[in-house]
Amino acid sequence: MHELVLKNIDKIYPGGVQAVFDFNIEVEHGEFIVLVGPSGCGKSTVLRMIAGLEEISSGDMLLAGKRINDVAPSDREISMVFQNYALYGHMSVYENIGISQTIRHEDENTIHQKVMKAAGVVQLKEQLNRYPKNLSGGQRQRVALGRSIVSTARVILMDEPLSNLDAKLRVESRRQLAKLHKQLDNTFVYVTHDQTEAMTMATRIVVMNAGRVQQIGTPEEVYHWPENMFVGGFIGSPPMNFIHGHVRNGRFIAPGMDLAVPAAVQHHIGTHGENDIILGVRPEHFSTLPVPVREPVQARSTKSEYLGNHALVFLDIADQIVTANLRMDEGWTMGDSAEYYIDMSQVHFFDPATEKRIRHEGETK
Ligand SMILES: Nc1ncnc2c1ncn2[C@@H]1O[C@H](COP(=O)(O)OP(=O)(O)OP(=O)(O)O)[C@@H](O)[C@H]1O
Ligand SMILES: [Mg+2]
Repeated sequence: MHELVLKNIDKIYPGGVQAVFDFNIEVEHGEFIVLVGPSGCGKSTVLRMIAGLEEISSGDMLLAGKRINDVAPSDREISMVFQNYALYGHMSVYENIGISQTIRHEDENTIHQKVMKAAGVVQLKEQLNRYPKNLSGGQRQRVALGRSIVSTARVILMDEPLSNLDAKLRVESRRQLAKLHKQLDNTFVYVTHDQTEAMTMATRIVVMNAGRVQQIGTPEEVYHWPENMFVGGFIGSPPMNFIHGHVRNGRFIAPGMDLAVPAAVQHHIGTHGENDIILGVRPEHFSTLPVPVREPVQARSTKSEYLGNHALVFLDIADQIVTANLRMDEGWTMGDSAEYYIDMSQVHFFDPATEKRIRHEGETK
């Protein structure tokens, strides 16, 4: 049985704004699902419908096989960690973590055991007598997490819980969250607009845009096999380069480009690409080093951003600027026109009309 199922879920807000269109997912017990997408795409709305804070306009929501559309939030076995943590300022860390049990009138002993266990997991045993105002952002976030662990929730929902933290603390908290998820026996559904958070923590990522699911897959799937141009552009930083051209006689032709197309893809493109097709190349699939599957392009480096062991180099190919991610030891001279290579085993082609990726031969998904 699936832990959580969303089936044909729509959300139309009073006033007529449709925020979510036909959302479908089946979540297994223990998964770490991350909803990712640009601002306003409907992520929080989905999460709030799962929590029961927002009415579902149509469709079915099932938790452990039971329909919960009309079940009150407090009866859902679901808990939610908000962006602002919503801690009680007048309560100590201990009291904040134990609040759900206090409300249920559990006995002192049970509360103590549960709070101590949770405090151990979120590493707050030393801070139990402190008040929220005397904690760092990261510690406050852990109190909020501790609180959801103590509650008897099957599913823990989190809406951008790390967005208030500085960059370093975010990276650290990301690791802690992923570790915590492994230790616990709960299912996580997590919302962020940060694709790095999605890539590093998720068992599966749900990419959304304008209220619609674009793709659901593991981090590897959405990165290597983007369903469409939106996913190719959103997952991965900097985004995939898109180049308009056409395919004739097994070659991709665009201004400044004449590249042999891998046989498996050629077969699927058929006559489709003769007029118009879009080539998608990730920045890391440009190189100055010639290896067999690579096809050459003549390009001039116009600008670069140094990033330590590699650099983003902006290449001008017949007046079109593309981003290449080159290792420092590859060697290139800024401002020079030179031959660069595209790894054709890694590129994708997209249909300009539908923006969907053209599938490779033998691809089943
Ligand atoms: N209470 C509401 N009434 C009407 N429209 C709303 C309401 N809440 C959200 N919306 C609209 O629904 C859409 C989705 O909003 P939502 O908050 O789910 O987006 P989000 O993906 O969480 O964005 P962000 O990353 O900015 O938090 C937006 O167009 C928003 O303006
Ligand atoms: Mg939101």
